[in-house]
Amino acid sequence: MQRFSGQTVFVTGGNKGIGLGIARRFAEEGAKVAIAAIETDTSEVARRLAEETGVDVLGLQLDVTNSAAVREAYKEAEARLGPLSVSVQNAGVITIAKVEDLSEREWDLNLDVNTKGVFLCCQEAIARFRATGTKGRLINTASGQARQGFIYTPHYAASKFGVLGLTQSLAKELAKEGITVNAICPGIIHTEMWDYNDRVWGKMLGDYDPGELMSEWVAGIPMGRAGTPAEVGALVAFLASADAAYITGQTINVDGGLIMS
Ligand SMILES: NC(=O)c1ccc[n+]([C@@H]2O[C@H](COP(=O)([O-])OP(=O)(O)OC[C@H]3O[C@@H](n4cnc5c(N)ncnc54)[C@H](O)[C@@H]3O)[C@@H](O)[C@H]2O)c1
Repeated sequence: MQRFSGQTVFVTGGNKGIGLGIARRFAEEGAKVAIAAIETDTSEVARRLAEETGVDVLGLQLDVTNSAAVREAYKEAEARLGPLSVSVQNAGVITIAKVEDLSEREWDLNLDVNTKGVFLCCQEAIARFRATGTKGRLINTASGQARQGFIYTPHYAASKFGVLGLTQSLAKELAKEGITVNAICPGIIHTEMWDYNDRVWGKMLGDYDPGELMSEWVAGIPMGRAGTPAEVGALVAFLASADAAYITGQTINVDGGLIMS
């Protein structure tokens, strides 16, 4: 399928993990893709993805919490790749701490990256859709923790519940313009973030060996396995496609049946 030929797609956190799975899917379907992430290797990842898929991929180092940098990054993406059609707000962080140890700095980091960062990128993308009259698509990565809080991550859960409120509110504001806004909730997807979770939660919840906690949780997934970044990419591509033109303000789980609400 080449559903996105000629379109420009912006993916935050697109240099690894879930974001790379999303960026790869769009590139495989013909889109020109800008990947923006905090790490310095982002342009190298973009170069490799372009080589593998044969489309233009631009790598940008970006801190999504910095509004001026966000504006510049979208400007550069449009200047290099053409008018924006789709923006995927996927960059995220997690930290894990008991409430008495949870620092204000950690609270702010999670809310800044996971919620404010999504807002700033949506705001910039919306301005660009409006400037070109594009019926654009916004897709925001939330989490199973936007459905249900979890032990030792009140700040992360708050940041992800926030993404759903933001998504629904923007969806209502933009519906008449044909711009859709949806959120996705990945469950357990094996990425670097999950390795951190396995290690830190594992220590806090019962001195698990590396990989043990992950295996226990994966066993509780009705489908009996973790998900892949490619499977998340497939959902995001659907939400960005013409087939999803009448879907907005929705939150869709991609988790093998882990949470059914
Ligand atoms: N892996 C999972 O099981 C899982 C489950 C639910 C939700 N999520 C969410 O999916 C998204 C991707 O997670 P992942 O598992 O691929 O994690 P990851 O750690 O592999 O990747 C995180 C990405 O976010 C980017 N990032 C972090 N801070 C940033 C900042 N300030 N500015 C720009 N980019 C920044 C990083 O550059 C990286 O690309 C996150 O929003 C995460 O909360 C992941």
